[in-house]
Amino acid sequence: MEQLKEIVIPLLEWFQLNKRDLPWRKTKEPYHIWLSEIMLQQTRVEAVKPYYERFLQTLPTIRSLAEADEETILKLWEGLGYYSRVRNMQKAANQIITEHQGIFPSDHASILKLKGIGPYTAGAIGSIAFGLPVAAVDGNVLRVMSRITADASDISLASTKKAWEEKITEIMPPHGSGDFNQALMELGATVCLPNGMPRCDICPVRKFCQAYRSNTIQIYPVKAEKKARTQVSLNVFFCVYKDRIAIRKRQEKGVLFGLWELPNVERDCAIPMVLQEIGISQAEITPMKAQKHIFTHIEWQMDCYYIKVKEKPEGELLWVTEEEMESAYALPSAFRKIWIEGIETKKNAE
Ligand code: ADE
Repeated sequence: MEQLKEIVIPLLEWFQLNKRDLPWRKTKEPYHIWLSEIMLQQTRVEAVKPYYERFLQTLPTIRSLAEADEETILKLWEGLGYYSRVRNMQKAANQIITEHQGIFPSDHASILKLKGIGPYTAGAIGSIAFGLPVAAVDGNVLRVMSRITADASDISLASTKKAWEEKITEIMPPHGSGDFNQALMELGATVCLPNGMPRCDICPVRKFCQAYRSNTIQIYPVKAEKKARTQVSLNVFFCVYKDRIAIRKRQEKGVLFGLWELPNVERDCAIPMVLQEIGISQAEITPMKAQKHIFTHIEWQMDCYYIKVKEKPEGELLWVTEEEMESAYALPSAFRKIWIEGIETKKNAE
């Protein structure tokens, strides 16, 4: 541990000189830090920037987030994926209004009780916004620490993460916990890169790195193999009637629950039957390009069809214009390419 402490000052000095200029680094406002940390889970920095700015322009306060309607928050999140992240943020915003008079709590225990905020996010907000001496251990930090200490513990285990949270808390500088946490993350994101391409040549803590010293960088971090994804085969329909396109709200619990989608069914159902069931009787069916979409645990193989509807449709589908869709309804990325090709085809047919 004494040895591990040696990385603190070099890392802090390196961070001061080399940190990226990011919008959420210009503020200590906990709501802004919180939003950035939630968006940055599972999403790259460059992709997050425009979403972050637009979200705060539309919902500048915790209260405005608490009071926003669901369509608004989903539209602001459209394309980022993992929509439960923003739904949980709204629930947490309501907790802050009812339990903390609308002011983001500044103690670690209260931050951890907010919906959707686990040890990583609580550590990041607590240290960056309030200077609390708590660790914020994400995948980047696990990789960095495994390499520096040549530690072969499996980083996908909760026990490994917990052990690192404790060790990092022990070496945490009393002033500058936010910078130290961010320095570790930043090193992982810009220098101690995954997939066999670390930039040891420019690393500020190379001389303390056991994996570098023993030339074993490539074997760290140790991580258990993931299970193969469940394969799902779907038929997806881009249905057009006059100037309108059919969408519907997903009812099934599970992936993309409650979001808008293009009508679709498991592939083994006969297409004309399916169309009948969703209220389309007379239609011209043309195949479109097949698509696939990868979720964390599921993979969709999608055969896609352009359905030109000849008779006024019945049933539960919502028929929207292109403009309505773009301004008000969030369409998950899984359907985005099909939407774009469908709109193109529709325009060419007019
Ligand atoms: N990734 C997620 N949050 C980060 C932060 N605050 N600094 C650097 N990388 C991050």
